Amino acid sequence: MNSITQEYRPRLSNRLAQLEPSATVGLGNRIAQLRAQGISIISFGQGEPDFPTPELIKAAAVEAIAQNQTRYTPTGGIAELRRAIAQRVELDTGIAYTPNQISVTTGAKEAIFLAFQALCDEGDEVIVPAPYWVSYVEQVRLAGATPVIIHTDESTAFKMTADQLATYLTPRTRALILNTPSNPTGAVYDAAELRSLAETLRNTDVLVLTDEIYDAICYVDYARWLRVAPDFASRTLVVNGASKTYAMTGWRIGYIAGPEPIVGAIRAIQSHSTTHPASIAQYAALMAFTPSDELDQTVAAMVHAFKERRDLIVEALNHVPGVECMVPDGAFYVFPNITSLLNRPLHDGTVCATANDLANYLLERALIGVVPGEAFGAPGYVRLSFAQSNADISEGMRRFAEAVGA
Ligand SMILES: Cc1ncc(COP(=O)(O)O)c(C=O)c1O
Repeated sequence: MNSITQEYRPRLSNRLAQLEPSATVGLGNRIAQLRAQGISIISFGQGEPDFPTPELIKAAAVEAIAQNQTRYTPTGGIAELRRAIAQRVELDTGIAYTPNQISVTTGAKEAIFLAFQALCDEGDEVIVPAPYWVSYVEQVRLAGATPVIIHTDESTAFKMTADQLATYLTPRTRALILNTPSNPTGAVYDAAELRSLAETLRNTDVLVLTDEIYDAICYVDYARWLRVAPDFASRTLVVNGASKTYAMTGWRIGYIAGPEPIVGAIRAIQSHSTTHPASIAQYAALMAFTPSDELDQTVAAMVHAFKERRDLIVEALNHVPGVECMVPDGAFYVFPNITSLLNRPLHDGTVCATANDLANYLLERALIGVVPGEAFGAPGYVRLSFAQSNADISEGMRRFAEAVGA
């Protein structure tokens, strides 16, 4: 039988020369390998709720199959879903949206990918505050543009200040990414902070891509960009989706809302690439995005559970000598500073020089999966997701403390 041989070395595009594969996906693969060998790993790596998709939403998908909703849909999503999303974004932001200003995408990840494809040319700059979600930088690069990183740390609770932003603006700045609550830090900008960012951008033509995928998972009052800066509506792209709020990561439903010329361009790219997300997932999302007390209660219960787990994991981490962990105001991640654990012998004498080394050490020795900060543009930290049971959090933290103990 013929097979693929190593002799033929395919040439990859120049665009891919710089591409880093997703660290979180990489970690997931390694954990899967270890588990396949029968090794019990507690993973703090995954960026998804551990809850099942609510019954109401699953039933809507089953019904869509029964009704043979299994064919191509319009590019950018079925009309009912775009209408429901337009209403939802209008409720969220106080800005009127029409279905034409919405596109349904294969996860929020595709929405952001397509936004940069639609907006950026070679030489354009996109400002990405760090620590950042792993895909922003690569997606900006894949669009030919240059990511411009603004580093933040605990001194500003991982939030970019208006002064910082001002120093990074250039005539080439095309867009700013705002991600609040943030993955990986859980930082949430308050209204005053957003107002001063808006002030800094007001006399520029910079677009704002506001990634609000964790808006429902917030432990403080949520300040929304367009509520604070409604005059930016014609140069703001709102990205959100069903993945986190409704525990629907596998269904791959996201959306983008914004000015029709940009969203129309995004639909044009979709028409030549994915066409639309799966029809069945769209009907499920229609149920998710249709206002309902039942779903509101389910989401509230999930957020309540996340808050308890947050308190548990922050407390445990701050008891580990050498670890300092801020309390996240949103999302389901903690981002402890582990610099004091580097360059000194850990429990078994191992010395780790980088967060990457530490993550490998924790995986192989303590059998816990954490994502190294390098992946988020923040060496010196690791990210842990607390979207898992209290028992796993407690046991995982016990293993962490033991493995790094002097
Ligand atoms: C900040 C942020 N934006 C976007 C996404 C993409 O979400 P989706 O599953 O809808 O593609 C994620 C997922 O981890 C995320 O953390």
